[in-house]
Amino acid sequence: MEYDVAFVGLGYVGLSTAVCFADRGINVLGVDIDSKKINRIKNADSPIHERYMNELLEKAIKKNRLSLSRKVADVTKAKIIFLTVGTPSRKNGSIDLKYIEQASKDIAIAIKDIEEYFVIVIKSTVVPGTALKIIDNLEKHSRKKNSIHFGVIVNPEFLQEGSAINDTLRPDKIVVGVNSEKDKKIIYKLFKKIYRKNLPIVYTTPSNAELIKYANNSLLATKISFMNYISRIAERIPDGDVNEIKYAIGMDKRISESFLNAGLGFGGSCFPKDVKALIAFSKELGVNSEILQSVLAINDTQFMSVFNILNKELGQLERKRISILGLAFKPETDDIRDATSIKIIKRLLDKKAKVRVYDPIANNNMKRIFGSSITYAKDSESCIRNSDCCIIVTEWKEFKMLKPKDFIRLMKRPLIIDGRRIFSKKQFNKLEYHAIGLG
Ligand code: UGA
Repeated sequence: MEYDVAFVGLGYVGLSTAVCFADRGINVLGVDIDSKKINRIKNADSPIHERYMNELLEKAIKKNRLSLSRKVADVTKAKIIFLTVGTPSRKNGSIDLKYIEQASKDIAIAIKDIEEYFVIVIKSTVVPGTALKIIDNLEKHSRKKNSIHFGVIVNPEFLQEGSAINDTLRPDKIVVGVNSEKDKKIIYKLFKKIYRKNLPIVYTTPSNAELIKYANNSLLATKISFMNYISRIAERIPDGDVNEIKYAIGMDKRISESFLNAGLGFGGSCFPKDVKALIAFSKELGVNSEILQSVLAINDTQFMSVFNILNKELGQLERKRISILGLAFKPETDDIRDATSIKIIKRLLDKKAKVRVYDPIANNNMKRIFGSSITYAKDSESCIRNSDCCIIVTEWKEFKMLKPKDFIRLMKRPLIIDGRRIFSKKQFNKLEYHAIGLG
């Protein structure tokens, strides 16, 4: 069987893109070396928690639009091959290209004796210059020539966890880093089928496309850290409120209102990793990256606002019962990678507090980190019952349904630290209500 496209690596980006393409009528081959993952996907059981994912997956499998394989060699059954493997951080923050190097070597060996023209699309997040390295690797192992026997395109991904399907089907922009007209035509033909009209494509060079991804994520992370910095100032002004500042500055079209939410800092598998990678890359070029170092420094210490309040209100934390609502790094996901909840729980345990947590879907993931050193509640009410303080760490919708009277009725002391500004300060003024960025 021939496929329109193949994906090498079925992580967050690979799988989301593969099912969305399949949904738009494209015949997709998904390749991953992890056989457990492949078996789950084959059974339409998504290894990642993402809205609409299971439905789309089931449809794609039933309609035979998504096939799966563990062998990279199978990618030759498609003429467009997306590289969607991970690019994890090394100790010094730079990215580790081992998966991408291995995948491109395997692809090169697979296409070596095939006479057709292949386009390899790098979707993984990689620093400028990586596409050139991949071209070298492909040429070396396939004995073929770039632009003659194959082409390489850089097409970074901007989807957000929690809205991956929607973001993939309706992207703000599609960045295509391409050097040849031939490759441009091939990819345009594919994207036209998927996104239909009004394609927001930005054509640029491969290196610029690589840098666009890092600039995009780093600027968003900068907006967040900037607002967290403003929140620290607002907290020290008696009637300060970072939300009012956000509202007003967000009205300025040059700034825009999104990603201005102060909170307990950004987590996840992307912002911290990508900012560190851009810093490491800048260092190689001899470019000072103080701005991004500050972004990270603010992010690393932002969770301490919680402890400033705890110190003032509870003093010693030993044996104090602290309830935590929300563990995932953001709502609508069970992902706890680099989640602020981990930093907070660790410190609470160091201070010998008794910690009870609840997340609608991330409890099990947290069990793998903290085991029986904390307790896991099955809902918000049982989480906050009898506690001395409740900290809101992730802004899940269901937490917003809690009313002041619920906290008064259930908690030993209705002391709340709203780390994500989900409650209205007016409604909660009868309680001991503290919040990020609130004086
Ligand atoms: C981020 C980018 O938003 C995506 O465009 C990009 O494709 C992705 O990284 C990636 O590189 O793969 P993601 O990490 O899924 O997406 O989640 P975001 O919604 O960006 O949130 C990241 C963190 O920032 C979360 O911890 C969130 O709570 C925090 N955040 C976000 C704030 O603290 N304030 C805000 O105003 C927005």
